[in-house]
Amino acid sequence: MSKETTMEDIVSLAKRRGFVFSSSEIYGGFAAVYDFGPYGTELAKNIRELWWKEMVQENDNIVGLDSSIFMSPRVWEASGHVGGFSDPLAECKNCHTRVRVDHLLENVGVFADEKMSDEEINKLLSENLEKVSCPKCNKNDFSDAKSFNLLVKSNLGNFTGDWSKEPTYLRGETCQGIHVNFKNVLDSSRVKVPFGIAQIGKAFRNEITARQFIFRKREFEQMEMQYFVHPDDVNKEYENWREKRWNFYINKLGFKKENLNWHEHENFAFYAKAAWDIEYKFPFGFKELEGIHNRSNHDLSTHAKYSGVKLAYRNPQTGEEFVPWVVETSVGVDRMFLAVLCEAYTQEKLEDGKERIVLKLPYKLAPVKVAVFPLLKNKKDLQEKAREVFDSLKSKYMCEYDDNGNVGKRYRRQDEIGTPYCVTIDFDTLEDSSVTVRNRDTMEQERIKIEDLESFLEKNLTR
Ligand code: GAP
Repeated sequence: MSKETTMEDIVSLAKRRGFVFSSSEIYGGFAAVYDFGPYGTELAKNIRELWWKEMVQENDNIVGLDSSIFMSPRVWEASGHVGGFSDPLAECKNCHTRVRVDHLLENVGVFADEKMSDEEINKLLSENLEKVSCPKCNKNDFSDAKSFNLLVKSNLGNFTGDWSKEPTYLRGETCQGIHVNFKNVLDSSRVKVPFGIAQIGKAFRNEITARQFIFRKREFEQMEMQYFVHPDDVNKEYENWREKRWNFYINKLGFKKENLNWHEHENFAFYAKAAWDIEYKFPFGFKELEGIHNRSNHDLSTHAKYSGVKLAYRNPQTGEEFVPWVVETSVGVDRMFLAVLCEAYTQEKLEDGKERIVLKLPYKLAPVKVAVFPLLKNKKDLQEKAREVFDSLKSKYMCEYDDNGNVGKRYRRQDEIGTPYCVTIDFDTLEDSSVTVRNRDTMEQERIKIEDLESFLEKNLTR
């Protein structure tokens, strides 16, 4: 039986076991920026690989891309981000906390339209002022809300002192790199509509509120896929991708259905014609995990207009020419990482009355697949045998050699990082060439011949 997991549980484990650290921690941290520690780096890599396999490797009409973080500033003018990518920012007059007014309102069941002017959102806020309160001091006295643009600016390539008037931007979403490379991909590969372009990479946003750990970061990573379709097929393809992405969480990540939810946006981002979120039940409630959007032909059309380059597709069979519509799937590595940690985190009461914390990660996501222990640290022959076993496995799996403390403690440590199997070399091993293999979830132990270890792991680690 597991008690309800809190955000404090997750943050504490993430720090204690080297999954996530605050950025620049020795300088007191840096708001909404985080680093992955040694196990976090492995988990994030495994998440990226799983998504890439699902989207690119297993779909012969989806290709990959790795576009730059920096692009011509014209890209962001055309995409609408310079003019329209903003959140309504207000300040609590009592404690000076900056708040997102749309979030304040959302918390009390009032939904602001993305396209509202500052005047309209301030009217909505004053109509609902009695219901809302500052998340820090609980007062409800706010300054007027003003649109705050989320794009992060830089002086790249601008050597004047006055660069902020003509800034370059760190990309606010990875998919713009896909749209501006649409023609390059079309001309250089054999893709035919419908086809997709997928990309994983960093994105940057000047998020107003920095709370909830790695849920909302200012530097984060997105895994996005843009699926280019004939306009007549967009609704069918949209439903298809909604189903596929939902099934990914159930079948590939093993999420419980009751922890997932569909949320339909009534008010879309400036580029979208339809938008559904897959929400995950984080300890702070159901919140957006992944967005699936019908982006119409907004991006290709505006980039064609701004660049003067034709961005269209000609059907080689019928000769029909059209600007494809786009179905987008978009999820953050960091947000999936947090959902995966929350889903896997389990506190169990053991038969002896003690408790253990175990990360029941899908095996393919576990940072370490196999831990190898010599039963005792100071016995040379046990150490040598354990090293031999470790060396024989390390080229196939991410393994860890551990001879610190007693075996019970080593099990607890591996449980907390989600290692599926622990292999112990004891005195019997020296006689019968067998090892004890202990399963993370059942805690059952079995004796296995060293010569059979590889095939045992191969069979069991593939799930
Ligand atoms: N290209 C569409 C797009 O960027 P979005 O809803 O703004 O849409 C898509 O973002 C996904 O990216 C979100 O569902 C979330 O998983 C992730 N994401 C967005 N902002 C984030 C942030 N500040 N920190 C971490 N992940 C974020």
